[in-house]
Amino acid sequence: MNNNQHNINYQDAPALSGGCYSENKLQKLGLPNLTGKKFLDLGCNMGFYCKYAQTQGALRVVGVDIDKQVINSARQSNDGIEFFDSGWDNFPSGEFDVIICLSAIHYAKDPIELIENIRNHLSPGGLLILEGGVVGIGKNLQSDLLIPSWRQVGDRCRHLSEGFVKNHLLAGFNWRLNGESELRGGDNIPRYVIHATPKDPDVVTRSATIWHLDIQEYAACLALSASTIVKNMPSFNYVQQLGSISAEFTSNNLIPIISAPDNFEAFIDDLLFALMPIKAFTRLHLAQNLPSHFLKLLETRLSNAGIIVINP
Ligand SMILES: C[S@@+](CC[C@H](N)C(=O)[O-])C[C@H]1O[C@@H](n2cnc3c(N)ncnc32)[C@H](O)[C@@H]1O
Repeated sequence: MNNNQHNINYQDAPALSGGCYSENKLQKLGLPNLTGKKFLDLGCNMGFYCKYAQTQGALRVVGVDIDKQVINSARQSNDGIEFFDSGWDNFPSGEFDVIICLSAIHYAKDPIELIENIRNHLSPGGLLILEGGVVGIGKNLQSDLLIPSWRQVGDRCRHLSEGFVKNHLLAGFNWRLNGESELRGGDNIPRYVIHATPKDPDVVTRSATIWHLDIQEYAACLALSASTIVKNMPSFNYVQQLGSISAEFTSNNLIPIISAPDNFEAFIDDLLFALMPIKAFTRLHLAQNLPSHFLKLLETRLSNAGIIVINP
């Protein structure tokens, strides 16, 4: 997030101005009994959930946020809780029984690295609770990418997709959907709560996996954010145009939009942003459901960026 004034008013309770309904979200998290537990909140904002953990008798409570203003504010009213303002790339020391990361992983530069760090800091039997927007749940999409977006609050982010969670992000975990989460304005992506526990010694490397991209599906996922995308952002035009297509995407209705001269570079820039966590690591399988000249162009751009495209 690039704008402190949004963070300072983020956490709140119903009927107050922050409007993210922290109390309601709390009910949906399915937190375990926290008595005597070590609890960590990554992207803790003003410390609402840290404070809750403390009232539940947690032994150690740590909150991490990159926004100094919210951490200063959190420190003022939460004695006995450790707050760090250096961001989750500087992971706090020690092991934790419960780590939560709510409405925040979409800002991670490298979500896979963040999850690896979390895994390394969970105590045996520890629980990760992840909450946020996930695209394509239950839709059995073939693509397993992150889905980029520019949102009205002014930040560029990448939403999780079901395939990304299953095949890459949480491949080293046993995980389940705990249910839907509290909706919050700013995007149209449905939100979920995920509970995850690390699998027994199991090293999952991203270089070992093949990633999948079907541009028709990917476009349908991008179109979900059409009504919330920030005007004047490079992606605005083409995402709006994608959003205006109500029928299924096909080669015929998609190619004129994404290959238009005004749109193509923004489309490629977003795609490379979506692929950032994998590039230079592994191989991408590209669905062959678009005209071959367009696929060729795409392959060239991807391979120039260090991504190996395979078509088995
Ligand atoms: C949308 S708010 C969610 C706050 C809180 N987790 C909640 O659900 O109420 C996202 C938070 O993530 C924080 N954040 C973004 N990037 C971060 C990073 N690299 N390290 C730690 N926190 C970060 C932001 O400053 C912001 O407070």
